[in-house]
Amino acid sequence: MISLVDPMSEGPEMNQHKALILDEVRKYHQDVEVAGEFVPGVTEIWPTGAVHDVEDRVALVEAALELRVAGGSRARRFESVFARKMKRRKALLANSGSSANLLALSALTSHRLEDARLRQGDEVITVAAAFPTTVNPILQNGLVPVFVDVELGTYNPTVEAVARAIGPKTRAIMIAHTVGNPFEVAEMARLAEEHELFLIEDSCDAVGSTYDGEPVGTFGDLTTVSFYPAHHMTMGEGGCVLTSNLLLARIVESLRDWGRDCWCEPGESNTCLKRFNYQMGTLPHGYDHKYIYSHVGYNLKITELQAALGLSQLDKLDDFCAARRRNWRRLREGLEGVPHLLLPEATPRSDPSWYGFVVTVDPRAPFGAKELVDFLEDRKIGTRRLFAGNLIRHPAYADQDYRVVGELTNTDIITTQTFHIGVYPGLTDEMIDYVVASFKDFVRARG
Ligand SMILES: Cc1ncc(COP(=O)(O)O)c(C=O)c1O
Repeated sequence: MISLVDPMSEGPEMNQHKALILDEVRKYHQDVEVAGEFVPGVTEIWPTGAVHDVEDRVALVEAALELRVAGGSRARRFESVFARKMKRRKALLANSGSSANLLALSALTSHRLEDARLRQGDEVITVAAAFPTTVNPILQNGLVPVFVDVELGTYNPTVEAVARAIGPKTRAIMIAHTVGNPFEVAEMARLAEEHELFLIEDSCDAVGSTYDGEPVGTFGDLTTVSFYPAHHMTMGEGGCVLTSNLLLARIVESLRDWGRDCWCEPGESNTCLKRFNYQMGTLPHGYDHKYIYSHVGYNLKITELQAALGLSQLDKLDDFCAARRRNWRRLREGLEGVPHLLLPEATPRSDPSWYGFVVTVDPRAPFGAKELVDFLEDRKIGTRRLFAGNLIRHPAYADQDYRVVGELTNTDIITTQTFHIGVYPGLTDEMIDYVVASFKDFVRARG
């Protein structure tokens, strides 16, 4: 039977049912959330993971009961709260961090930027020791990535390396704060300004990290965040573009929402009060503004269910970041002095909100990273590579147009010698101590 009842206009009886359902959800949560005992070598120690509580479960079910699945009031509330949290004027939700990167870079090609826009063949400086979708938007927009090497230990490029790569066609810099460790972003922003380049900070792994006491993402023109479960907070899938430049924000919104020129929310009309009074392109005067397209856009919006989970997770973000820092410190102190391992270093003047704990096995060590990884995995200690290692060694990039400046020596070392383990808030001290002991057991036997 088709229901024409507006689920938002709940009568008293509806509300009572909803309260009952949500009470049952709380009980269900207690049933399924029995914390298992940690058994070393048997219990999986995940390299990443989302941490959910009863409020997340209730928030999702409550949103589902309303049956308003398309992004609406919760999505807009999230954007407003998150923009304030990240100290940016605008936050625009997208359906993933990869989509956020695509939107941020594509925005720089908009005709609305006039002479400042990026055009086909222009260059964007980035790194090859990257997650692929930090680089892919450059190629997807017909631009040319220029790869520089990174440092071992911080896993970021230096400002000098980026400066050396600037050429006549360079128009932008797009780099991630690797596993939460800020690159020298204040200096990078100064370099960008001196050379009239745009700077995009990929902060997908770095929510909560600071540089010179300021949050990452506040230095560049645009920044991006991921809400995939591996990240600092989650929506299941989700991402966000943030900027304080209102023109860039308008362009990102248009690109995200099919390329339309209109900014009315779904269900709204004529908020500009001149819906039938525009004349754009060669369209007839008065063509409905809701259906005028000023960009070749996408649909990269999120749903209300994702936003509901996001709002609930946002309440816990500071605690999540604190737990990540605590777990990273415990690993760092525990592994200090273990031979043959290069341990991670925070960039000077930064306070990273870590995504993971990166280890490089010294190429001169009597064992390889693969043997160590196999040993850890056997003990149920999950590991992950530092994303793509050297991106240009992957088949996808074999026939792409790019430029490399200098040697990618460290990037190649990362490809064979580097991996990371988890610091996510679901890990306990007991688990971390077992991880430390396992590294030591391996090195003692093989070192
Ligand atoms: C640095 C970086 N950028 C972008 C992304 C893509 O985010 P998503 O998985 O939400 O598309 C990731 C994913 O882990 C990442 O690590």
